[in-house]
Amino acid sequence: MFIHLPFVTFVSILLWTETVGSISYYVTKSGKDSNAGTSAATAWLTIQKAANSATAGSTVYVGPGIYYETVTINVQGNSKDGYITFTGSVLNNLPVISGKQAKTVSADGTLNLIYIQQKSYVRIMNFELMNLTSSDCAGARVVGGGTNIELRNLLIHDIRGGGESGGAIAISAYNKDKTTSLSQLIVDNCTLHDCEPAWSEALTFSGNIKNLQVTNNRIYNMNNIGIDFAGGWSWVNGLSVTSGLCANNTVWNIHSPVDSSAAAIYVDGASNITIEFNEVYNSDVGIEVGAEVKGHIASNMTVRQNYIHNNTYQGIGFGGYDAQRGTVINSLFENNRLEKNSAALQYDGEIVVAYGSGNTVRGNTVKPNKQNVVLSVDQKGGLNNIFDYDIYYPYGTGATQSQLIFNWGNTECDGLSAFQKKSKQETHAQVVNSG
Ligand SMILES: *[C@@H]1O[C@H](CO)[C@@H](O)[C@H](O)[C@H]1NC(C)=O
Ligand SMILES: *[C@@H]1O[C@H](CO)[C@@H](O)[C@H](O)[C@H]1NC(C)=O
Ligand SMILES: *[C@@H]1O[C@H](CO)[C@@H](O)[C@H](O)[C@H]1NC(C)=O
Ligand SMILES: *[C@@H]1O[C@H](CO)[C@@H](O)[C@H](O)[C@H]1NC(C)=O
Ligand SMILES: *[C@@H]1O[C@H](CO)[C@@H](O)[C@H](O)[C@H]1NC(C)=O
Ligand SMILES: *[C@@H]1O[C@H](CO)[C@@H](O)[C@H](O)[C@H]1NC(C)=O
Repeated sequence: MFIHLPFVTFVSILLWTETVGSISYYVTKSGKDSNAGTSAATAWLTIQKAANSATAGSTVYVGPGIYYETVTINVQGNSKDGYITFTGSVLNNLPVISGKQAKTVSADGTLNLIYIQQKSYVRIMNFELMNLTSSDCAGARVVGGGTNIELRNLLIHDIRGGGESGGAIAISAYNKDKTTSLSQLIVDNCTLHDCEPAWSEALTFSGNIKNLQVTNNRIYNMNNIGIDFAGGWSWVNGLSVTSGLCANNTVWNIHSPVDSSAAAIYVDGASNITIEFNEVYNSDVGIEVGAEVKGHIASNMTVRQNYIHNNTYQGIGFGGYDAQRGTVINSLFENNRLEKNSAALQYDGEIVVAYGSGNTVRGNTVKPNKQNVVLSVDQKGGLNNIFDYDIYYPYGTGATQSQLIFNWGNTECDGLSAFQKKSKQETHAQVVNSG
């Protein structure tokens, strides 16, 4: 609509109305970094040039093509002028950032296609990030304190080279800073696949991170954990991820060749996060809430309305995994749908409880495999939790409550009635004959 106005008038209108987000910059494969960058005809050549130059409230449009860069975001927005948004300009032809020629490591010593350190109000969307290989690398990495960082609609794959001790991660965020949190971090509608996080995780959060949102992502074909919310580790000064939403994600084919215990979604010492409406399947473990660091506590987690099926071992697991770890308290596992987990037929159970107390498991729909093991609770660590109102579907035509197996500490209870009698739990449970 401004096309007939002189340039000066255009700029004046922007200043007078303080229109947020309406300054535009352009990057194309035919641009030049000595250009002004302010129109498609005067576009820059590199994304890095834009990442050094864009101003608060602006949008950087990146044209289709392959960019062999490792981009460090050196600019940021603010709450008054708004975000700096970096976006692919053609939605069905995303710009590709390829790591095929990547050499330059980021300030923290890792190799990354996009690196954001101590920045606020930055939004990265509509890019494909691929082909990075290093023992310690990420498609996108967010480091240090800051606020309002958004990663949206990113397709990230073939981040490789994790080996046995490294991590080739799709997206990593961590913050070691005690005084400034990393808050309002959003990862939404991203597809992450075929990376080698090895000893790390595919989409991972650690340290002082608050109020994060992880929604509508698809994560598959990873050689370790899918999504991880961590806390208590010394490399992040013992700080923990707290308060957030992990919803609507689909995570599958998550398998660790090292120990076959990779969860699709894992909480390791984080607190106050709601994990809901996710679908997780065909992985080593479905959803696990634990705390690996000794003495550390994962608390106030809500895990509800997730669909968890055909995982190799447990569907839901919670608790520090042995007496040498931390513990899980005050958490709720409610209204989840568990179907035919424990696919390796090793009698794990749909729900497995290790070291944790004061947690509530209720209203879950549990359809076990033919072994009919629905619950396994550790004798030393797990008996002090509440189980009630769950709905069980014993396996097989004409199967009844007596076929269900509950491992209550060292006692195997054959049937719901036996379990109720032994444990005084599940007094309102229902059994539905699947026919
Ligand atoms: C990515 O790597 C594959 C396998 O090496 C190669 O065939 C492809 O051309 C690469 N693409 C880009 C954009 O780097
Ligand atoms: C999510 O990302 C896909 C591309 O993977 C895109 O087509 C779709 O429009 C995005 N959805 C939203 C709500 O942005
Ligand atoms: C817990 O999380 C909720 C929702 O994210 C938030 O409103 C609340 O303030 C958090 N509580 C604490 C103590 O951080
Ligand atoms: C989850 O998906 C549902 C259905 O598509 C949608 O209505 C809801 O807004 C989504 N939730 C979030 C937090 O994106
Ligand atoms: C526990 O979770 C509830 C519900 O999300 C929230 O309102 C409350 O602030 C949380 N408390 C703590 C201590 O995190
Ligand atoms: C269950 O998962 C395994 C791999 O984890 C897969 O091979 C198998 O096809 C899956 N079965 C179903 C019914 O999805």
